[in-house]
Amino acid sequence: MSYDKAIGRTANRLLSGKTAIVTGASSGIGRATALTLAQAGAAVVIHARRQDRLDKLASEIADQGGKALAVGGDASLPTDIDLLLNRSLAWKEGGGKYDIVVVNAGRGLVGGILSSDESRWQEVYQLNVLGAAHLLRQAGQYMVQRKSGDLVVIGSVAGRNISPFSGFYGSSKFAIAAIAEGFRREVCSHGVRVSVVMPGIVLSEFQNVAGYNEENFGKGIAPFGKLLEPQSIADGISWLLTLPPHVNVNEIMIRPTGQNYP
Ligand SMILES: NC(=O)c1ccc[n+]([C@@H]2O[C@H](COP(=O)([O-])OP(=O)(O)OC[C@H]3O[C@@H](n4cnc5c(N)ncnc54)[C@H](OP(=O)(O)O)[C@@H]3O)[C@@H](O)[C@H]2O)c1
Repeated sequence: MSYDKAIGRTANRLLSGKTAIVTGASSGIGRATALTLAQAGAAVVIHARRQDRLDKLASEIADQGGKALAVGGDASLPTDIDLLLNRSLAWKEGGGKYDIVVVNAGRGLVGGILSSDESRWQEVYQLNVLGAAHLLRQAGQYMVQRKSGDLVVIGSVAGRNISPFSGFYGSSKFAIAAIAEGFRREVCSHGVRVSVVMPGIVLSEFQNVAGYNEENFGKGIAPFGKLLEPQSIADGISWLLTLPPHVNVNEIMIRPTGQNYP
């Protein structure tokens, strides 16, 4: 490890030669993860709907001496996911392959079954479960053929401990965590690692998109103290990706120290 002036932090280059796809990279955890993996030497393919944000991030990574390809698209649509994977394989600077996929794009939804907006239910499952599962399946098939690869799925502590304040959203994260573990059992004998990273409360655009405000969220979490930054999750992801290939951290929960619930 050495201090890197361009990025203003200590960096290792343990992911040199790897190509990583990160979905939901225009904001929050995905953005921090793309930057962190690039700083560790990976070429990164960044995906989200907001192309302007991706282009800016790609320039930032290039300014730091890294390699990035920005691919705009909707992670809830199988056709857009297939396009992302094809564009990644066609990217010469990425070596025409990918080694890591961080399945991160997702959205929250405030409320329980009675109190959440039912008109959003389909969108939540289409993105958090079906889109994520399609990406796992397509990338997993490729990795099984190559006999190596890393699939990192972003779950949630609300996908392990259900909360009445985010019951429907939490159920989508229970579903994708179950899908990921089932998938791990299908692919692990082929040298493919699957990890589920379950964050606690991370300050990002997530709260706004989900519909949280001071009344339904801020007051309840005030006793938790300092909340996580996206970087805390990115560091966890980077750590598990740099372990030796025979070591697979299957799941990891990262909460703010003061978060006692869920
Ligand atoms: N923040 C938390 O407290 C927390 C806790 C536990 C788990 N998580 C999980 O962590 C992941 C990242 O969340 P975050 O906190 O970083 O939230 P965020 O800041 O809102 O970022 C969400 C990312 O997903 C992308 N996205 C959303 N819908 C998409 C779609 N249909 N197609 C493609 N990309 C889409 C967004 O980009 P565009 O809008 O540009 O498409 C954005 O880049 C999510 O899976 C979330 O459920 C978050």
